[in-house]
Amino acid sequence: MSADAHQPVLLNEAVDALAIGEAARANGVYVDATFGRGGHARLILDRLGPHGRLIALDRDASAVAAGRLITDPRFAIVHARFSELEETIRAQGIAAVAGVLIDLGVSSPQLDDPERGFSFRCDAPLDMRMDQTRGVTAAEWLARASEAEIREVVRRHGEERFAKQIAKAIVAARERGPVTRTRQLADVVGAAVRTREPGKDPATRTFQALRIHVNQELEELSLVLPQAMSILTPEGRLVVISFHSLEDRIVKNFIRANARPGEAPERLPLRAAELPPPRLRSLGRPLRPSAGEIAANPRARSAVLRVAEKLG
Ligand SMILES: C[S@@+](CC[C@H](N)C(=O)[O-])C[C@H]1O[C@@H](n2cnc3c(N)ncnc32)[C@H](O)[C@@H]1O
Repeated sequence: MSADAHQPVLLNEAVDALAIGEAARANGVYVDATFGRGGHARLILDRLGPHGRLIALDRDASAVAAGRLITDPRFAIVHARFSELEETIRAQGIAAVAGVLIDLGVSSPQLDDPERGFSFRCDAPLDMRMDQTRGVTAAEWLARASEAEIREVVRRHGEERFAKQIAKAIVAARERGPVTRTRQLADVVGAAVRTREPGKDPATRTFQALRIHVNQELEELSLVLPQAMSILTPEGRLVVISFHSLEDRIVKNFIRANARPGEAPERLPLRAAELPPPRLRSLGRPLRPSAGEIAANPRARSAVLRVAEKLG
């Protein structure tokens, strides 16, 4: 695989879940909210009919540049965050779509390009922004966050037991000089974490936490799900691939909450049958990659795919 490639996770399963081949759906409009390097997008295009369309989004300018190389007239890509999904789709003159795919997390080119600062495996500036055209880098945030804020982010987004010790060590390190490099941070964390998880660098959880925080990943996810619902046609499909339990919990709870009848307006005595009907139907059980896929692509190992259908 070239350095600029991304091996798509649950490729067939995710695109099958969009049910593009069924009846008139092949000529519908689909959204790939996380283009990356277009593994899923290309398979969607293969399955689309001549009048179908695929609108892709990515917040990363290098992903958008890769997308612009696709010359298929049924395809368009927009540099946007998926929290801007609804306005992005409406700006294309589209009222409703037949399916939305969201493949969360970072792409391999983001992880593997040392200059992006996502990985502690090579020494690089501590950036971690998926969209390098705006926002605050991890180094800038670490320079001005309080010890309590650092502890909370590392604990919550990294599910890290040693968050307190790590935050303390970072604050002590920055008093000696700014923490601006990935290796420097990994060394500070490594020295602060006393026990080792087998097969895991002690800095893994802290790097995950900072990445989630810098990119506001959980807020983005909470914002995109209701927008996806609002642009889907009845029978439209919502397909989400998550890579850790914090993301999957948000997706699971969203689908669950919308698969139940709505709340009765306060003080109105309504029978169960009179409650607002559910807006979504959860389809099947959450799907995980096969052992074969994980062996071929270890980055797939924590993936979970959930699918829901919008009700009429
Ligand atoms: C796992 S990769 C997607 C890979 C893609 N499905 C493929 O087959 O190549 C995730 C992509 O989503 C983008 N992304 C993550 N969060 C985003 C957000 N809130 N808005 C837009 N794009 C986002 C990242 O920049 C990255 O390119």
